[in-house]
Amino acid sequence: MTSPAHIAIIMDGNGRWAQSRGLPRSAGHRAGVEALRQAVQNVGDSGARWLTIYAFSSENWSRPASEINDLMGLLKLFIRRDLAQLHRNGVRVRMIGNRDTLAPDILELITDAEALTRVNTAMNLVIAFNYGARDEIVRAARHLSQMAADGHLDPHSITPEMLSGALDTADIPDPDLIIRTSGEQRLSNFLLWQAAYSEFVFLPCFWPDFDRSQLDHALAIYADRDRRFGAVAAREALS
Ligand code: IPE
Ligand code: IPE
Ligand code: MG
Repeated sequence: MTSPAHIAIIMDGNGRWAQSRGLPRSAGHRAGVEALRQAVQNVGDSGARWLTIYAFSSENWSRPASEINDLMGLLKLFIRRDLAQLHRNGVRVRMIGNRDTLAPDILELITDAEALTRVNTAMNLVIAFNYGARDEIVRAARHLSQMAADGHLDPHSITPEMLSGALDTADIPDPDLIIRTSGEQRLSNFLLWQAAYSEFVFLPCFWPDFDRSQLDHALAIYADRDRRFGAVAAREALS
């Protein structure tokens, strides 16, 4: 099978990585940003044109305020420190998630990054931030219902494509491969709609330990999978 065009990653296990070293969780999150820098480079080198990363979920607000502050600070630091380099490398940056409840300074950094890199085509980095798939689907449903209520849309004409087009990921292809680190085997409200036919690879390593060899391992597992999308396998269709 060919390599994935769109890789999505649930970057999990920063806290446990730190804990296993006797460090505070914040140290794990800092190490996680380093792993992210490498991952963008390595995924680009692998030939994938799309990388989506789960950076902060709509449920992560239930963590202690100090940890939320650390995570917000790290996102700001990542954008401030890495944006110029990403831009030089032709990476288009964009965010999926709920913008309405984000602090104004973070929202401004994100919209500036999106505007600066808008014309880049080498690679796409999609940051799922303040993201929850159920929230995304509800916002899309509200949008379509409002159009119907205003008389611009016949509810019976709504198709899966229209719902896809009302999601934050409107012009982003569905992920081919979703990787989750840390050993947990769940989606935690990530890309529920878009993952309908994604391949899943769960790796035991904690996110700060995710390197080129871990990515290559996930890609090798993906290459062995037989994606059928509900049809019969390509080789069986010929027999
Ligand atoms: C992932 O690591 C980072 C975020 C969720 C933002 P965790 O902080 O969830 O680390 P664990 O799962 O507690 O080890
Ligand atoms: C998922 O990880 C969210 C991100 C990686 C940003 P969590 O650590 O929040 O997920 P649960 O709580 O273990 O399901
Ligand atoms: Mg976690």
